[in-house]
Amino acid sequence: MIGMSESTTAERYLSFGRSEAEGNSPAYAARCEEIAGDTAFLALLDGLPEPKRQPNLLFAAIRFLGGPVDGGLREWAAARWGEVAAVMLAHSTQTNEPGRCASLLPLLARLPQPLALIEVGASAGLCLFPDKYRYEYSGHPPFGPASPVTLACRTGGPLPQRMPDVAWRAGIDLNPIDITDPEQTRWLEALVWPEQHERLARLRAALDLARAEPRPLIVRGDLNEHIEELVARAPSGATTVVFHSAVLWYLAREDRERFARTMRRLPVRWISNEAEPGREGFTLALDGEPVARTGPHGQFLEWL
Ligand SMILES: C[S@@+](CC[C@H](N)C(=O)[O-])C[C@H]1O[C@@H](n2cnc3c(N)ncnc32)[C@H](O)[C@@H]1O
Repeated sequence: MIGMSESTTAERYLSFGRSEAEGNSPAYAARCEEIAGDTAFLALLDGLPEPKRQPNLLFAAIRFLGGPVDGGLREWAAARWGEVAAVMLAHSTQTNEPGRCASLLPLLARLPQPLALIEVGASAGLCLFPDKYRYEYSGHPPFGPASPVTLACRTGGPLPQRMPDVAWRAGIDLNPIDITDPEQTRWLEALVWPEQHERLARLRAALDLARAEPRPLIVRGDLNEHIEELVARAPSGATTVVFHSAVLWYLAREDRERFARTMRRLPVRWISNEAEPGREGFTLALDGEPVARTGPHGQFLEWL
């Protein structure tokens, strides 16, 4: 993540525990405090390459292997460190959150239809089905098709008057998650925090829904390397929309800037839903202009 390389591992766990886990996952918040004070455990983490020391990655790896999230976590993980480290090295944090479609939908609905959707950093591609989910925006009747996935979102502003008409779906990811592979989807499940039972149920329902749909084309590779060729493949007669959420923090600054330049040059509409350093929540932007603050999982949408 942005700026993480400057902190020690102990500081990183304290910061994650206090700013991200606190209030969302009491178990992870407590484990972060314990890890930050355990020099032997920190030494194990410091044996990994710097990007692999992330709290989310450690906790997901332990849960993927069937380990505990209670006070026994460090002892359990230290006793099988080879196995835990191997899972951390082989995987990355690829949380795919269909709830973010509640943030994207109002912008998608207001563009000229039909749409050719391209998601960069698509993970399993669950955000490529915004037209297949049902939406409950606060104070409004449920909106969208009958669906096994309902996304609730607090908002006060203008809402979509229609569902987007999606003509084509495609994506790019360094490591696309194959939703037909139970081991890969088990990893996605391990990334959902332990107390978030509703999110886990929603993820499972979205995976079932996506398995029943024609599979979008998801290109394996770097978004900067593949975006132009994918935009060129989008069908004519549709508005090509390139979008991304929770992806840009994985990129070095020069790569983020290169991507922004490409978006301004190509004949596309560009929706960005990303964290910004030092700010809570995400910023939603259309064609580079911020339009709203959004919940990281689509929990709220506040127009600017
Ligand atoms: C946290 S996940 C978010 C997935 C999805 N956008 C969502 O909102 O649910 C970030 C994804 O970006 C992908 N990613 C990171 N850097 C990338 C790059 N340079 N090119 C393509 N994909 C990348 C990761 O593999 C991962 O699947």
